[in-house]
Amino acid sequence: MKIAFLTCHDLLEGAPERRADAFEHDLQIGALRSAMAGAQSTVIEIDWRSPLETFDDFDVALLGTAWDYQDHALAFLARLDEISSRGVDVCNRPQVARWNIDKSYLRALELTGVATIPTLWHDDPGAADLNAAFDLFACERVVVKRRVGAGAVGQFDFTRNAPPQAAWRLGCAGLIQPFLPSIATEGEYSLIFIDGEFSHALVKRPADGDYRIQSLYGGVETAVTPSAIDLRSARSVLDALPFTDLLYARIDMVRGFDGKLCLMEAELIEPYLYPLQGRDVGVRLAKAIQKRCR
Ligand SMILES: Nc1ncnc2c1ncn2[C@@H]1O[C@H](COP(=O)(O)OP(=O)(O)O)[C@@H](O)[C@H]1O
Ligand SMILES: [Mg+2]
Repeated sequence: MKIAFLTCHDLLEGAPERRADAFEHDLQIGALRSAMAGAQSTVIEIDWRSPLETFDDFDVALLGTAWDYQDHALAFLARLDEISSRGVDVCNRPQVARWNIDKSYLRALELTGVATIPTLWHDDPGAADLNAAFDLFACERVVVKRRVGAGAVGQFDFTRNAPPQAAWRLGCAGLIQPFLPSIATEGEYSLIFIDGEFSHALVKRPADGDYRIQSLYGGVETAVTPSAIDLRSARSVLDALPFTDLLYARIDMVRGFDGKLCLMEAELIEPYLYPLQGRDVGVRLAKAIQKRCR
């Protein structure tokens, strides 16, 4: 079996200037490669922008670490469709990516009863919208993020005492949420499911003085065994998703003001799957891919 591991140019092994989080790419592809070794399978990293012919003799295109799609969403989705139409099994499916690429899916999940962070949606949030949000959420600090975003890029946080200038705008469709202090005191949980089965969980804590948990900003991850209730919360998110054939899903959750976990993101496109905290995630993925291709 030939598996194309979709990535972006500055994560490719041997790229002249690799991103600072390239080690995550290496760990993830490494976990899959070692699990696939001996199964007459190869896992080859390919930039998602490579010519379409590159994908021709592949069985599977795995959405791996294409971590630069957020500014090229339409091109990225079109490319997934094109790869799929050449008979390559893209996973997760292009329809899943299309649904998941825009955070407005959080609204759809909230309507099904999933606990989410209270959120205001705006075509282009501005300073007046932030001022209204402080009052509406009765909070002192808010986070503003893009509807299509990843890695906390283009994200802002403001306090009531230090709001943006009156002319400030996000510059694209976005969402405003109250800042959840548990992000700093407890961290953000990731619960990872492969082929519908729980694999492992971890908590990601930001560096002192930051609130973004990504490794690029100094975030640190620790494996955890989730409580039964927290695992149930994540499972209920998985069950609410409008897809039943997900190869992988990473459910990112944070403790809300009521003490229960609520959904930060359901990552279905290209999540880092934290193989250091889930040592058998490569094997689980390999088995699930083989099962799909039988
Ligand atoms: N409402 C919030 N309260 C506290 N921290 C937040 C909030 N929203 C986002 N963050 C922080 O910003 C990070 C990125 O936000 P997220 O919604 O996961 O977007 P993405 O990962 O797609 O950029 C989170 O991992 C978390 O550290
Ligand atoms: Mg996130």
